[in-house]
Amino acid sequence: MKLSSKHLLGLYKMPAKDIELIVETATSFKEILNRPIKKVPTLQGKTIANLFFENSTRTRISFELAERRLSADVVNFSSAGSSVSKGETLKDTARNIEAMKIDMVVIRHNIAGTPHFLTQVVKSNVINAGDGLHEHPTQALLDMYTLQEKFGKLENVRVCIVGDIAHSRVALSNIYGLTTMGAQVSVCGPATLIPRNIQMLGVKVFHHIDDILPKVDALNVLRIQLERQAGGMFPTLREYHRFFGVTKERLGRVDHPITIMHPGPINRDVELSADVADGPHSVILEQVLNGVAVRMAVLYLLSATE
Ligand code: CP
Repeated sequence: MKLSSKHLLGLYKMPAKDIELIVETATSFKEILNRPIKKVPTLQGKTIANLFFENSTRTRISFELAERRLSADVVNFSSAGSSVSKGETLKDTARNIEAMKIDMVVIRHNIAGTPHFLTQVVKSNVINAGDGLHEHPTQALLDMYTLQEKFGKLENVRVCIVGDIAHSRVALSNIYGLTTMGAQVSVCGPATLIPRNIQMLGVKVFHHIDDILPKVDALNVLRIQLERQAGGMFPTLREYHRFFGVTKERLGRVDHPITIMHPGPINRDVELSADVADGPHSVILEQVLNGVAVRMAVLYLLSATE
């Protein structure tokens, strides 16, 4: 079985069979992560460049670990300290790195569409590790893998994405992927942080979190980007927490357990209270572990494409 594209740019229109293949493959790679020696020779001889033009902790370490677990050679590039500061363009940077015989490029960039542009200028497989406000496909794939692990399926699992939907690439990739897989997806947040007409993507919209909690199996709680408050999207962090914060007290009013997810980094006691983040229904650190398995699956499957 092969993926239908040689790049992973986003989950928009990604076929369900591709998502299923990545999730199934990640299951076998997760088993490797639980072994005493967590390494296989699958990508021996391949060289992968991680190009990070924007900050990252989880995604960057997760890709590097995934590459090393598969025995690939790894080159890490950050824009800070590079010739980008001397005015070198992305195209020149990428082509120079590729000239050193790179097989795959992982890229994070603050400008939407950068990974798509890269596919026009390099021959390597390109993987989007987050592009601006657009997509973060491997985050959504690891979120779906975590849900599949928890519920045994994605179809009809009720997932609500809470927070700043308008500025979230995690939200958009999750909406594309989850709706393709038949999950029941809703979003919840202040009207200023929910794009108009988002219902056209097949999601329901809620503005009161207490209305949605009784109707969901899982919450994917997004980081409130602190700069949004300065932009006038909501009055204060305290007010955001009061109306949209996921707290133990709020969850205690619902008669069933709700799985708690968060892509990180968390603003503790803003979008998510610390006791819920660390509580029995939180799968946040499982998401992080699953991220390595999912990225191993993506790298392995893309390496087999033309
Ligand atoms: N979830 C996520 O993308 O985290 P980082 O920004 O730390 O990579």
